[in-house]
Amino acid sequence: MNTGTLTLIIFVAILLQVVIAVLIGLYRRKQQYQDLVSRMSELQSATSNTAATVSSEVAAKAPPAWQGFKDFVVQRRVMEDMAESICSFYLVPVDGQPLPSFKPGQFLTFNLQITDPITCEIKSIVRCYSLSDRPQPDYYRVTIKRVPPPANQQDIPPGCCSNYFHDHVQEGAQLSVKAPSGHFYLVEREPLPIVLVGGGIGITPMLSIINTLLHSGSSREIWLFYGVRNGTDHIMKRHLEVLQQTHANFHLHICYSRPNEADKEGVDYQHRGHVGIKLLRLTLQLKRYQFYVCGPRAMMESLVPALETWGVATDDIYYESFGPATLPKHKRAKPQISKPDAAQQAITVTFSKSGKNISWNPDVESLLELAEDNGIEVDSGCRAGSCGSCQTALESGEVDYTQDPDADIEAGHCLLCISKPKSDLTLTA
Ligand SMILES: Cc1cc2nc3c(=O)[nH]c(=O)nc-3n(C[C@H](O)[C@H](O)[C@H](O)COP(=O)(O)OP(=O)(O)OC[C@H]3O[C@@H](n4cnc5c(N)ncnc54)[C@H](O)[C@@H]3O)c2cc1C
Ligand code: FES
Repeated sequence: MNTGTLTLIIFVAILLQVVIAVLIGLYRRKQQYQDLVSRMSELQSATSNTAATVSSEVAAKAPPAWQGFKDFVVQRRVMEDMAESICSFYLVPVDGQPLPSFKPGQFLTFNLQITDPITCEIKSIVRCYSLSDRPQPDYYRVTIKRVPPPANQQDIPPGCCSNYFHDHVQEGAQLSVKAPSGHFYLVEREPLPIVLVGGGIGITPMLSIINTLLHSGSSREIWLFYGVRNGTDHIMKRHLEVLQQTHANFHLHICYSRPNEADKEGVDYQHRGHVGIKLLRLTLQLKRYQFYVCGPRAMMESLVPALETWGVATDDIYYESFGPATLPKHKRAKPQISKPDAAQQAITVTFSKSGKNISWNPDVESLLELAEDNGIEVDSGCRAGSCGSCQTALESGEVDYTQDPDADIEAGHCLLCISKPKSDLTLTA
C-alpha cells in the first residue's frame, strides 16, 4: 500500500465518521423536536381545556338568550379615542336580570326609531354592533364609530345610526336590543395560537376575544395586529398597552398608516403603513395559527386571499366585514367545476310589490343581492342571517339557505341575505 492509498483510506474513514456523527445529531434533533411538539400540544391542550372550562362555566351559569327585542338602558358612555369619534356604550337590562353569555366576536342587533330629517317620518332602522368586552353577567358593551359622509361628498348625509348613537343616545336612554348572535367568534375547541387582525373599528370583536382569553388566564399565544390611521384614531390605547405589559403571551403590533407628527414610532406604534401579508410573514413563525380578520373592505379583500396564498388553511381563517358593503364570499377551491344546472338558470324570481320578474343568475350570492342589483328596496342589517331585517314573505316557491340562519324566521318568510331560489319564486318585495 502506498502513501496515497493510505491517505485516501484515512480521509474516507474520517468522512464516514463525520457523516455518521451528523446523521446521529440530526436524528437526536428530530427526536427532541418531536418531544417538544408533543409536550407543547399537551400543554396547549391543558391550557385550552382551562380556558374552555372558564368560558363554558360562564355560559353554563348564564340564562338562555331572549327572543325578539329586549329593553336596555345606557348606563355609561365612554369616548375611546382622541378624536372623540368612537364611543363605548355600556348597556344594562331594564328588568335587572342576569344577562345571557355570548361567544367573543358576536354582535348585538339594535332596532332604532329615527326621525328622518327631511320627511320628519319616524323610521325603524336595524343595525348590528359587535360586543367589545368579555361576557359579563350585568352589562354588555358596544363601541361605535361615528360614520361621516363619503370623502368629498359632504352633500350626502352622514351615517344615520352611528351618528344617532353619538348625538342622541345619552346615559339613561333606552334601546331595543336583540340577543347576541353571529358566526364570527373565537373557536375554543382547538388550542392553536391566534392572530387577530383588526383594521379601524374592526378592532371591536378582537377586544372581546382578547379580554375573554386573558381574563380566563389562558396562556394561548395571542398576536394582535391593529391598523389605524394615527394616534388620533387609536382606541383603547392604554388598555392594550397594559395588557401587553402584564401578559407575556399577548403580542401587540400597532400599525399607523398616516402617523401624526406627535406620534412616535416604537412608542405609540410599531409599524408605519397598513397591516398586510408582508408584515405577518416577517413577524410570525412558520407554524399553524388561527387567523381572525375584521376591517375595511380593501384590507379584507387583499389579506384573506393573501393568507391562503401563503399556505394558511382556509379552515384556519375566520373573517367578518362590517357595514353594508360586506366582503363577497371568497371563492374557495372546488375539486371540480360543475356546469350551472340548466334548471337553476331557468328560475324566475318575481318581486310582487315592485312588479318585477327577474331571471335568477347563479353567479349572484343571494336573493338580497339580486333585489339590490335590480333596484328593489329591501331592508338589511347584518347580511349574515342574524338580524332578521331582510326577512321577506315568500308567496310561492322554495329557497335554499347558504348557511344556517340565526334569526327566527316567521312561517312563510325567508331571509334574503343568505338564500338562493330552489324553484320559481314570488316574494313580497
Ligand atoms: C356584524 C357587524 C358588526 C358591526 N360592528 C360594529 C362595531 O362594533 N362598531 C361600529 O362602529 N360599527 C359596527 N358595524 C357597522 C354598523 O353596523 C353600521 O353599518 C355602521 O355604524 C354604519 O351605519 P350608519 O347607519 O351610521 O350608516 P349608514 O346610514 O348605513 O350610511 C353608511 C354610509 O353611507 C353614506 N350614505 C348615506 N346615504 C347615502 C346615499 N344616499 N348615497 C351614498 N352614500 C350614502 C353615509 O354617509 C355613510 O358614509 C358592524 C356591522 C356588522 C354587520
Ligand atoms: S340582513 Fe340581517 S338577516 Fe338578512
